[in-house]
Amino acid sequence: MKATDSIVFPRIGSNSVNRTLLAAMTNKQSNEDGTLSSEEIKWLVRRAKGGFGITTTAAANVTETGRGWDGEMGVWGDHQLPGLTNMANQLGETETISLVQIFHGGMRAPRELNGVQPISASKNTEAGMNGEYTREMAEGEINSMIESFTQAALRCEKAGFHGVELHGAHSYLICQFLGAITNRREDGWGGDIYARSRFLREIIESIREATSSNFLIAVRISPIIEKAGIYLEDSLELVRILCDMDIDMLHISCWDVFQPVEGDENGPSLTKRFSEVIPKNIPLISTGAVWDSKDAQWLMDEGADIVGVARVAIGHPNWPNKLIDENYQPQRPPFSVEHLESVDLSPVFIEYMKRWRNFVLQ
Ligand SMILES: Cc1cc2nc3c(=O)[nH]c(=O)nc-3n(C[C@H](O)[C@H](O)[C@H](O)COP(=O)(O)O)c2cc1C
Repeated sequence: MKATDSIVFPRIGSNSVNRTLLAAMTNKQSNEDGTLSSEEIKWLVRRAKGGFGITTTAAANVTETGRGWDGEMGVWGDHQLPGLTNMANQLGETETISLVQIFHGGMRAPRELNGVQPISASKNTEAGMNGEYTREMAEGEINSMIESFTQAALRCEKAGFHGVELHGAHSYLICQFLGAITNRREDGWGGDIYARSRFLREIIESIREATSSNFLIAVRISPIIEKAGIYLEDSLELVRILCDMDIDMLHISCWDVFQPVEGDENGPSLTKRFSEVIPKNIPLISTGAVWDSKDAQWLMDEGADIVGVARVAIGHPNWPNKLIDENYQPQRPPFSVEHLESVDLSPVFIEYMKRWRNFVLQ
């Protein structure tokens, strides 16, 4: 199997796409009220035109008070619909499948930005929150949060996207419910991994019920985050649980797919382990540190059905189309400002990328 081979999602018909996915990338280009800027639309559409089988937006917030940073994309209100529709329409003119990544910051939604005390599964602290503890969510708040995720997904559907990716990775709210350390609840929302996944499961069920039968639901998780209490065995079990539900794709965020699992350096890769528990009808997406054709092929050989990339697509928007060449080795960072401008990054995004070590030539 190659990343350039086609894959079909029967839920949306018989059209096939290749097996490349642009992973969600926050780019800080949204307006203050969460509406999309023309720069954000332009940068994403350029990648879709570059041949990505699946294109994911930046993380987009489902409530106004769950924001993790400024310039964040929002899907919490109808005032965001015109921009979303414009983006979906332009993506729809390409071959790509379009997903909006939806999330809530939870304990990573600072008061300075949101004007309210951050909330989470339990009372937690987080670096960068000025020492403020989160407030444990009341049952009613959990239910209305599920409703916010559902309304956000409906808005994405109305705008014309093919589906959503639920952001259950990287220690944001869904992930905080999944983690044994961040979720210490003793009611029906905490306990073993099945109980800790209830919040995510109810979001999936609610979105599935509210949206039409051709709306895609992908789920992104982090396989291991020790400090949140996300452990590999639990994550494998979580995937078994989720794959019994009506989801369309499962995405593991590995940061570095080549890195061996700590404590089991000679064991199988994360991708291989997950591929062994995922049923064949649910595609596994794996992302992290893939750069060239050989990396992509290695990941497919480990059992990924779809290869996810982020950083390489910033510098090389046509990356998927170039994969035809099995010796393709795109230039590595640092990239000059002129190059990044030429591939449709605005000054705001370029400035943000300066925070990523060695990415922008300075
Ligand atoms: C600029 C930037 C912004 C990112 N924003 C998000 C995000 O909004 N949501 C998310 O799940 N991951 C985000 N990530 C992580 C990427 O999706 C990806 O998993 C990670 O960069 C590793 O893949 P790569 O080595 O191909 O870049 C971001 C990464 C970068 C470089």
